[in-house]
Amino acid sequence: MDISKMLSGIQPDPLSRQPIYLQIAGIIGDKIINLVFPTGTKLPPERELAALFGVSRTTAINAYRHLEQQGMVVTRVGSGTYVAELADGREDEGPAVPWVQLMTPFPQMPLSTVLREILNISVSDGSISLAAGMPDPALYPADILHQIVARSDKGINPADLGHIATEGYGPLRRLVAEMLADRGISTGTDKVMITAGSQQGLYLISKALLEPGDYVVVESPTFIGAHQVFRASGARILSLPLGGPFPFALLEDYLVRYRPKLMYLIPTYHNPTGRVMPEAERRELLRLAARHRLVVLEDDPYSDLCYGEKPPASLKAMDTYGGVVYLSTFSKILFPGLRTGYVAAHPALLNRMAMEKQFIDLHTNNLAQWLLCRLLESGALPVHLELVSREYKKRRDALAKALRRQCGDDLSFETPQGGFYLWCRLNRLVSSSRLLHEATREGLSFVPGEAFYAYPPEGEREIRLCFATHTEDQLQEATRRLARALAGVRKAGKEKEVPAANQTVKPII
Ligand SMILES: Cc1ncc(COP(=O)(O)O)c(C=O)c1O
Repeated sequence: MDISKMLSGIQPDPLSRQPIYLQIAGIIGDKIINLVFPTGTKLPPERELAALFGVSRTTAINAYRHLEQQGMVVTRVGSGTYVAELADGREDEGPAVPWVQLMTPFPQMPLSTVLREILNISVSDGSISLAAGMPDPALYPADILHQIVARSDKGINPADLGHIATEGYGPLRRLVAEMLADRGISTGTDKVMITAGSQQGLYLISKALLEPGDYVVVESPTFIGAHQVFRASGARILSLPLGGPFPFALLEDYLVRYRPKLMYLIPTYHNPTGRVMPEAERRELLRLAARHRLVVLEDDPYSDLCYGEKPPASLKAMDTYGGVVYLSTFSKILFPGLRTGYVAAHPALLNRMAMEKQFIDLHTNNLAQWLLCRLLESGALPVHLELVSREYKKRRDALAKALRRQCGDDLSFETPQGGFYLWCRLNRLVSSSRLLHEATREGLSFVPGEAFYAYPPEGEREIRLCFATHTEDQLQEATRRLARALAGVRKAGKEKEVPAANQTVKPII
């Protein structure tokens, strides 16, 4: 079967709002579902697919990744891409269940499968991952937890092991409200909800507020998990470019033209850029939001990880019109497996979020909440924060110094004053995903910039490096590997393969 011939003549629609890679995935997917391409069919190599549709290789790779995510194709290393077994079950058991066809369409970020692959690269194979935004496991407060458990001689009260309120364990909600009061956020137990990580908080907020077709304003770039949640709700993304002064004129234009339901921001130690929104910009933003009755979702996982001057007060602390929803987590300051985050918001919103939460998990795990309560009561958190902040500051400096020394001509970046990330711009014509492929061969991974944008290939010349997870020595080794990867890409002359700038998909304004 000449697959290439069967695909030639069908072209994606350049005027469609659907990204080109999804259109290509759709064209191939149709042929798979209709059994034009039966199980086991070998599909054209990525380069050939790109040529067939007149797109960049990155787009072709993303199309195959999307199909892989849907279970329609499988990639065999060194061999190619093949049509997967669509149905499960053996013939002698009657008709098989067509799983893939039964599933709802999955709103997929182009690079999220790449991210999953990256996160799966295990440390045991000697590779260093600067990709995941994780604290160093060696700095998890294991001793503190051990002491808490050892000291709880009366053990846990059986009443705490039954069902609790969906909004969370009362004593923890109270302690979180007190912690927020220390940050200048005036709230109360009834205005705090505990969630299974802040990712769940994001999901519940979007479930409570967003319908398909609603507009959401985000900074560009921004946290990939936010993109995924907003896309899953069917919302349309309006992006505000970061990189200079905050684009208030563009925001105002969005507010007037599209009446967005929500604006999502990470004002302090932004993920991925590390940016801190200055106080004057925070005030101006709140003035504008109040005028348009805009709900502002402030995501604040990193503000306790400060390596220099204290950041300005949070938007929530400065909010006088009641439109700021505050979201945070213990994942970055303690450990991510705790899966405990929290939202401070108007009780009406929390009430609706609690209803949505009941559909998925009734309430967040009691043991994690109980443990966290004891930890907060013990007064150990500020001590732990001081320890990790001191260590992360050293790591940030070590990575910045090594990068300047070894990759100075190839990369530029600003040193962040807190958080986990160095956001680097690639100075030469090197695409971040090409560099990632080269780097993984050297035993290094990071997140390519496109992952943080709503409209790739924006970000194709940027990369995010997390400096928190590894020791200074490992960061130095990671830099040596990055320098080798950069040299490898240059030597192979692969720079020429950067997709043409005119393929950028821009938001509609
Ligand atoms: C800005 C931001 N929000 C939310 C999260 C999710 O955190 P959690 O582990 O609490 O779900 C992350 C994790 O990387 C993040 O960077």
